[in-house]
Amino acid sequence: MLKVEGLSSGYGNLQVLWDVSLGVGRGEVVGVFGPNGAGKTTLLRTVSGLNKPTAGKIYFEGVEITAKSVRERTMLGISYVPEGKRVFPQMTVRENLMLGASTLSDPDKVRKRLEEVYEIFPRLKERMNQYASTLSGGEMQMLTVARGLMANPKLLMLDEPSFGVAPIYVSRIFKLLKELNVEIGLTILLVEQKVREALKLCGRCYILESGRVVLEGEAADLERNDYVREVYLGI
Ligand SMILES: Nc1ncnc2c1ncn2[C@@H]1O[C@H](COP(=O)(O)OP(=O)(O)OP(=O)(O)O)[C@@H](O)[C@H]1O
Ligand SMILES: [Mg+2]
Repeated sequence: MLKVEGLSSGYGNLQVLWDVSLGVGRGEVVGVFGPNGAGKTTLLRTVSGLNKPTAGKIYFEGVEITAKSVRERTMLGISYVPEGKRVFPQMTVRENLMLGASTLSDPDKVRKRLEEVYEIFPRLKERMNQYASTLSGGEMQMLTVARGLMANPKLLMLDEPSFGVAPIYVSRIFKLLKELNVEIGLTILLVEQKVREALKLCGRCYILESGRVVLEGEAADLERNDYVREVYLGI
């Protein structure tokens, strides 16, 4: 579904990603792990179109999208949930969700999608008229994930969805991602620091260090890898 080939990207004169290649197959959950500053966010931003690569190519469902705009990529079915609990605080839960539906032009489709997302997140339905600023941290994180789902994406890219949420919500968010993958076949590219938990969810993973892919493989194999155990799992 997604193929990234020899990607280099950065900010001005600062090169962050060096010749990164990775792939995500339809129905897969693929993890990207790495230390702070490794370039994980930059990778997702470049795939979503927010950062322009300096080299390399990006393909989505066999079509090259390297030069396409963020909007065009969203319309093709790529949804990006950025790091941090990025909600619009002065808007209600419902208004926040509606912003995620800009790819759906038909109001009936939007209403239907909203109901589907409320089914996944009953808590957000209860709170639909509440200002996003007054949600708990875990609820805000749910809202950012839910907003990413409003576009009914084919590929959901998430940047540390567990960041800053209580352990109980971390397991709920991972459980939910698993359900979305199994039940509706959603393809997921997940950036995470909580490697131990994320490995349970992912089929395959990449380890990114200093902007380079240093290891890749099946989650089960990485779990047994001495380097991964020592550096990422602390065992
Ligand atoms: N807007 C920016 N302008 C300049 N440099 C940036 C910008 N955003 C990130 N960087 C730099 O790019 C490098 C990679 O950052 P990135 O956010 O991709 O890392 P990350 O792997 O997501 O880290 P973290 O785990 O801390 O979120 C870092 O050295 C960072 O300082
Ligand atoms: Mg990051």
